[in-house]
Amino acid sequence: MPDARAPAASRTPAPGPGALRFILGARRRGFLAHVGELWREYGDTFQVRIGGRTLLFVIHPDAVERVLVSERDNYDKRASYDGVRRYLLGEGLVASTGELWRRQRRLMAPFFTPKSVQSYTEMILRDGAQLVERWSGLAKRRAEVEIDHEMAAVTASIILKAMFSAETMESIPPMKDAIGTMISFADAQGGVILPLWLPTAKNRKYRAARALVHRSIDEIIARRRRTDESQWPDDLLTRLMKARDEQTGQAMSEGLLRDESLTIFVAGHETTATTMTFAWYALAANPGVAERLHEELDRVLGGRSPTANDLRQLPYTLQVIKEVLRLYPPAPFYARDAVDPGELGGFHVPARATVLLSPYYTHRHPDFWEHPERFDPERWTREREAVRHGHAYHPFSGGPRVCIGNSFSLLESQILLAQLAQRFSPRLRAGYRPRWQMRGTLSLTDGLPMTIEPR
Ligand code: HEM
Repeated sequence: MPDARAPAASRTPAPGPGALRFILGARRRGFLAHVGELWREYGDTFQVRIGGRTLLFVIHPDAVERVLVSERDNYDKRASYDGVRRYLLGEGLVASTGELWRRQRRLMAPFFTPKSVQSYTEMILRDGAQLVERWSGLAKRRAEVEIDHEMAAVTASIILKAMFSAETMESIPPMKDAIGTMISFADAQGGVILPLWLPTAKNRKYRAARALVHRSIDEIIARRRRTDESQWPDDLLTRLMKARDEQTGQAMSEGLLRDESLTIFVAGHETTATTMTFAWYALAANPGVAERLHEELDRVLGGRSPTANDLRQLPYTLQVIKEVLRLYPPAPFYARDAVDPGELGGFHVPARATVLLSPYYTHRHPDFWEHPERFDPERWTREREAVRHGHAYHPFSGGPRVCIGNSFSLLESQILLAQLAQRFSPRLRAGYRPRWQMRGTLSLTDGLPMTIEPR
């Protein structure tokens, strides 16, 4: 979509609907769909003013690059992530800013490089193998399951093991539920915040959930501190506990250790669960793609379980995942706050505007994607990737604040898809029509009921 409407003068405000129309449209059509309508109407840069606040939507990859890379000092995460910081993640990496973020990122980056995350391969393979077992039983009965629940369970188990090893296995379900309560609460705040001490049912439930989560993590850390360092398991928590800032020699405080652990869990499991859920939907809806995937898996694995060494020989499996992340990015929007006035797409950006970047719509931009609505893993050959605009694809954001877990997530998704698609071909319920919306992450409104069929 060309930005033909963009005038040269950057004092010109971006076009856009009035607040009432935006609110009613979002209520009637859902936020995600309504933003798509506005994109078609106004072009790549548009805004809405609500309650004295400017929401500026930018879709064009050039603008994405400026916000995330070349002009990033003017676009921070202070105001937009206030609720997340207060109610959910504290000063963990997703929500922290400034010097604290820089130090923490420096400390944690080495644990998430493509090479480092390979150390989790065996653990992911073991969890995947357990799911293969479970699905074998279901396949015998041609049982129908909610695939989104299946994927949420396996990704939660994987990230908790990567973080805390086996110590937490018995506490996974209560911790997962409690974190779910915290997420819903933080979500529901939407900027209007009730004092937490008010004994409303919701507040009490939230406070109990937060206490349980914090207590569980604090106990794991304390238990570890009581044993000799040489006995600590090789997991992310140990790496965080042993990490020392190279400039100051300082270790992380107990509070930060807890905030970072919680951040990794929250940021790292639902997103991957969503990716895997949409992968099953996309494969069922595109039999030609499923066939190519099965051909690769059969040729490379010949019926045996995959190992770490096989993954490089499974490029198409990874291409399927990348295409899922294009059409169904788990984080369809994310935000930045303008510090000083600026200009994007030829329009004025007021200071303190909330700038909304949208992988969901950038990934559908017809100037950068041929037949954008088509599910086509062939887009991800090395040659075609090499000539694409560097910011036409940003499911993991970009620049210095790019998702730290992207290699972990791609590794996990590739392994799970290889293990499960090698053996099963889940089938959509007859008459199932997918509808999706943004509910924190992108999610299928009616879940994803599928019958587990053996291949
Ligand atoms: C398909 C899976 C995933 C997707 C689509 C995804 C997406 C994103 C996006 C869009 C951001 C930027 C948010 C913003 O700047 O507002 C982000 C940041 C982050 N993600 Fe992920 N993520 C995924 C998996 C993971 C995993 C597995 C982990 C941890 C193991 C993780 C940990 C983080 C952290 C800590 C940040 C903050 C990084 C920083 O600001 O320095 N994510 N992710």
